[in-house]
Amino acid sequence: MRILGIETSCDETAAAVVEDGAAILSSVVASQIAHAKYGGVVPELASREHLRAIVPVVRLALEQAGTTLDHLAAIAVTEGPGLVGSLLVGITYAKSLCFACNLPLIAVNHIEGHIHAVVLEAGAAIEYPALALVVSGGHTHLFEVREGFIYRLLGKTRDDAAGEAYDKVAKLLGFGYPGGPIIDQLASHGDPRAVKFTLARMKGNTLDFSFSGLKTAVLRWVEARDMTAEIEARRRSQRTSAPDFLPLTPQPTLDLLASFQYTVVEELLRRASVCIEEIGARSFIVSGGVASNAGLRTTARAARLGCPVFFPTPALSTDNAAMIAAAAFPKFRAGHFADFSLRAQANLALA
Ligand code: KG4
Ligand code: ZN
Repeated sequence: MRILGIETSCDETAAAVVEDGAAILSSVVASQIAHAKYGGVVPELASREHLRAIVPVVRLALEQAGTTLDHLAAIAVTEGPGLVGSLLVGITYAKSLCFACNLPLIAVNHIEGHIHAVVLEAGAAIEYPALALVVSGGHTHLFEVREGFIYRLLGKTRDDAAGEAYDKVAKLLGFGYPGGPIIDQLASHGDPRAVKFTLARMKGNTLDFSFSGLKTAVLRWVEARDMTAEIEARRRSQRTSAPDFLPLTPQPTLDLLASFQYTVVEELLRRASVCIEEIGARSFIVSGGVASNAGLRTTARAARLGCPVFFPTPALSTDNAAMIAAAAFPKFRAGHFADFSLRAQANLALA
């Protein structure tokens, strides 16, 4: 039972073939480097890049899986949330393939895909109810996950997503895009207790997050010092990796990055811990781009959260299509198919 997954919700064009919701036969991800010089994703540019990449990426995924369209059971595609122009490329292509090859079409929520990146690998080891923390460039959500993949939203960010905070802080300090992996690596060279950030208390749902205050606190810290030359030197250097940036980054800045990361991880795990207790979670699933963060992984594993924690391998943490094909498997078995009226939904909710 092979499903071809297609994912184009943001700036990665991805296709994968997954067998029985568990075995990845291929997973191809073309990351768009065109956005790097703008310090963030440019929607029009993303759509154009998807158009360029979609055909070769799907072809390569089929080839690497040693299969052809005739041997597929279905085609799954991300319907949202994401950038409308980007989503449309994947959806239109998936519909065309289904129409031409007479295959069923399955619509997948991108956030559910991230959760299934973990289910795909850990399978039966995950016990329910589980708590899922989806942390990426677009989302910071906590869900209760019940048997049969029934979701209940417990908390989410009211402003920036955690990955977005990483990217904005990185841009502010002259590091490239995406900033998450760079800050993550540089943070290990700094003192996480050097800068104390006090965050506003949440009114209303205390399980919600807010990261824009932290971003502003970093901005104030920078403004209080004369860092223009240091930041400009990094910008001009055109370097892209953390080891390359290290000699251009003085100790106080490394301490700032370590303290920023410490605060983000604290915020995420404090709320997760409350949720685990509240719902009696028997597993804790962390997924999305920020799930590859070394600080988050180490701290979550060391913390006494009361249940086992599951992370996807780094390749499955960031956007990919294997997670979309995996999330489609239970839908296929339940006969939940989409028709050709399927549309891109920028703000699609999971629960
Ligand atoms: O899941 P993803 O590939 O795309 C979205 O759905 O948004 O996540 C990308 C985000 C970016 O904001 C990137 O900076 C962040 O994940 N990210 C990280 C790390 N690796 C990627 N953030 C912190 N630490 C990392 N190691
Ligand atoms: Zn994502």
